[in-house]
Amino acid sequence: NTKYLKDYTAPAYWIDHTELTVELFDDYTDVTAQLRIRRNDELDAAGSLTLDGQELELLSVALDGNTLSAEQYQVGDESLTLSGLGDQHLLTIRNRIYPQNNTALEGLYRSGGMYCTQCEAEGFRRISYYLDRPDVMSEFTTHIIAADGQWPVMLSNGNKIADSVMEDGRRRVSWHDPFPKPCYLFALVAGDLRVLEDTFTTMSGREVALQIFVEPQNIDKTEYAMDALKRSMRWDEEVYGREYDLDVFMIVAVDDFNMGAMENKGLNIFNSSCVLANPATATDSTYLRIEAIVAHEYFHNWSGNRVTCRDWFQLSLKEGFTVFRDAGFSADMNSATVKRVEDVQMLRTVQFAEDGGPMAHPVQPDSFIEISNFYTVTIYEKGAEVVGMLHRLLGEEGFRKGSDLYFDRHDGQAVTIHEFVAAMEDANGIDLSQFKLWYKQAGTPVVEAASSYDADAQTLTLTLRQHTPDTPGQTDKQPLWIPLALGLLDAAGNDMPVQVEPAEAWTASSQVLHLREAEQTFVFHNVSERPELSLLRHFSAPVKLEYQQSPEQLLFLLQHDTDGFNRWDAGQKLMLHWIEQARSGSFSLSDAEQTALVSLLQDDQLDKSMLSYLLNLPSESYVAEFSAPVDPAAIHHARETVRLAIANTLLPHLAERYQQLQSPVAYQPEPQQMAQRALKNLVLSYWALVSSDGVTAAQAQFEQADNMTDQMAALLSLVNYGSDEQADAALASFYQQWQHDTLVVNQWLSVQAGSSRRATVASIEQLLQHEAFDWRNPNKVRSVLGVFANQALVSFHQSDASGYALLADAIIKLNGINPQMASRLLTPLTRWKRLIPELSALMRAQLERIQSQEDLSKDVYEVVSKSLS
Ligand code: ARG
Ligand code: ZN
Repeated sequence: NTKYLKDYTAPAYWIDHTELTVELFDDYTDVTAQLRIRRNDELDAAGSLTLDGQELELLSVALDGNTLSAEQYQVGDESLTLSGLGDQHLLTIRNRIYPQNNTALEGLYRSGGMYCTQCEAEGFRRISYYLDRPDVMSEFTTHIIAADGQWPVMLSNGNKIADSVMEDGRRRVSWHDPFPKPCYLFALVAGDLRVLEDTFTTMSGREVALQIFVEPQNIDKTEYAMDALKRSMRWDEEVYGREYDLDVFMIVAVDDFNMGAMENKGLNIFNSSCVLANPATATDSTYLRIEAIVAHEYFHNWSGNRVTCRDWFQLSLKEGFTVFRDAGFSADMNSATVKRVEDVQMLRTVQFAEDGGPMAHPVQPDSFIEISNFYTVTIYEKGAEVVGMLHRLLGEEGFRKGSDLYFDRHDGQAVTIHEFVAAMEDANGIDLSQFKLWYKQAGTPVVEAASSYDADAQTLTLTLRQHTPDTPGQTDKQPLWIPLALGLLDAAGNDMPVQVEPAEAWTASSQVLHLREAEQTFVFHNVSERPELSLLRHFSAPVKLEYQQSPEQLLFLLQHDTDGFNRWDAGQKLMLHWIEQARSGSFSLSDAEQTALVSLLQDDQLDKSMLSYLLNLPSESYVAEFSAPVDPAAIHHARETVRLAIANTLLPHLAERYQQLQSPVAYQPEPQQMAQRALKNLVLSYWALVSSDGVTAAQAQFEQADNMTDQMAALLSLVNYGSDEQADAALASFYQQWQHDTLVVNQWLSVQAGSSRRATVASIEQLLQHEAFDWRNPNKVRSVLGVFANQALVSFHQSDASGYALLADAIIKLNGINPQMASRLLTPLTRWKRLIPELSALMRAQLERIQSQEDLSKDVYEVVSKSLS
């Protein structure tokens, strides 16, 4: 049951209008769909129509008002087929569903005290029989009916057109969405909710009502999201010329949600963890995530909704582009360099690992079994990198011309990635056919660089080679068009003017060298002294760069590079080198390195958030990505050795710096304060690691903090570096304080599940038994099992396989509750081939155990079978 991009065919019928009546009863929900269907005259269709449906109890089918008998249609396991149809009909289908039993969280389900929906990608077929594919765009009218007073708030897409009590005493609320849309953008919400209201005046002067709906206890956590929404709306007008189009824009927070959030037209539904915040309960990183996700979903109104995808192979058309857009927004609201560092960190650990594993796929996949498995870092983050490269190649203005043409040309259409690139080409008169390989070829390209300087000729010769490794089902890859931003630094750390041969390989405005062949040599002229090369500035392409640089050269770049991103990256490479030395038992910091670390700690020029990144070691998963085979325990211990050495180097200055970074001002989630807290809390963690004074400071901060950023940082320091008694006491008092706030309790679970010191298989099993845990809630499952398997690497990779067995048991259990969650938890197990042999075999055995289960969902089956093949 693999689906292929090459098999795409247009639908036999269109659905011009959909009128949906949803009747909510205590134990079931009845859905009536009235579909105005019209034959697709581009096709020589035989008047036969097959609708998708899953777990629906069919009640009746009528054609143009006449009820059909059971012989007049065929009901399959997941379909309803009618034949002998004419050009146009009104098709009326009634069916029953059971939202309270829906634990997969796709379609219509109950979450806490409310009803909500998640239809992307293929959830609408669990609500009603339909052409559940994004190229069928329909104008929706939705009626929601329930006992009067039971659900004060009843919402759907578009504008509210009626609200009345019917003759039988039930209440009926009607919504109409004038913009035709695919059914994956349908949404419905009913509950006893509170609302925060505001307004926004668009650039053409229209007033839009803004509403954020939450359960009553959360109404004091809605302000920041509202602020982020208004800033997003303004930014999209200013940067992309995109204006909002309905009279109302609504956001609803729900506790049970498989992903972060969903861009349903006019009615975005959010995982409560991605929208709710106040200073006491949310950390700075939560605030930043909320800002990014609110923007992301809002931006989808154009990149996704007004212009949507023809089929799910085009998913990155909307996701890659929208991630690129939200990254631009976050960069403008905060530090652009820090945002770039964070995104690249994630790309080089999670996405590179995916690209090098059994689930590797192109940004535009050729095939899939279960589309839910393709909401991946490759589609989202690598897809955003590809759009980012287009932006770099075309420049700000050229890119904007291209996006204007794209939105203009395809408004109201369901299109492919090809159309997006074609708009960029047509608006700029450029041929991007080679560039499009980025969408087609999976795997992370490797770029090898070698340089030599000729003092007499005053030239620098740079030779670049590229190759992309084979990935499952793909060999013999073609050379890509790689934009390589670079600079040459003189001994004082200044950028030297660049003059390159061949001249057409260099774009001066963006300082980009164009690598387009498997191997190319470039000559830089008039280079008056031996320069230090700063390559791949800003991480201008998602590649692995291999270029020999000594620790001294890296230290120079860390201190002097004019590109902030590359300063950080040089530091990471240097630290990676230290970790490798620690593994071979030959590590010590040179005097120059120690001096550099101390002056970074004391720097008063650089952004403090940037400083906290500069002083932070690469994560264990980053180190793993650059070592083979992976020995998690050895990586952990080597990294800890280096961390201890850094902390000891900084120790004489930590107390003073910590004091300096205290702030007398009341907490605000704004960039300067956040930066200061980030550096302060990094200082605290180094201090607590090597000194009991540091632990004492953490204890004081834990007790006095008036915001969650500081409280959580102190808790982490106590849990990881305090005595056992201190750690236990802090965890107990934190739970005591926050047990009624489910989002804070999730953070409490994560602290324990992710701590290499605390997490053991036994302690994870205890957390799974805890009153605060719930197998049906994806946030809880992620907080314990996801964090354990992805962050507490030494505990997870136990040599007796107990960590793997625990995860496999959980996956088997979740396969029957929530297949999407089960499948996501498989990710750490898909890396088995990269581990040292003794661990690799143990992990493989657990994958085989999962594979041997009966009733495997498509989600789990696809990932397990691809991992084992
Ligand atoms: N389109 C959503 C977003 O990225 C993701 C929702 C996908 N949900 C799912 N269950 N596959 O904003
Ligand atoms: Zn999205």
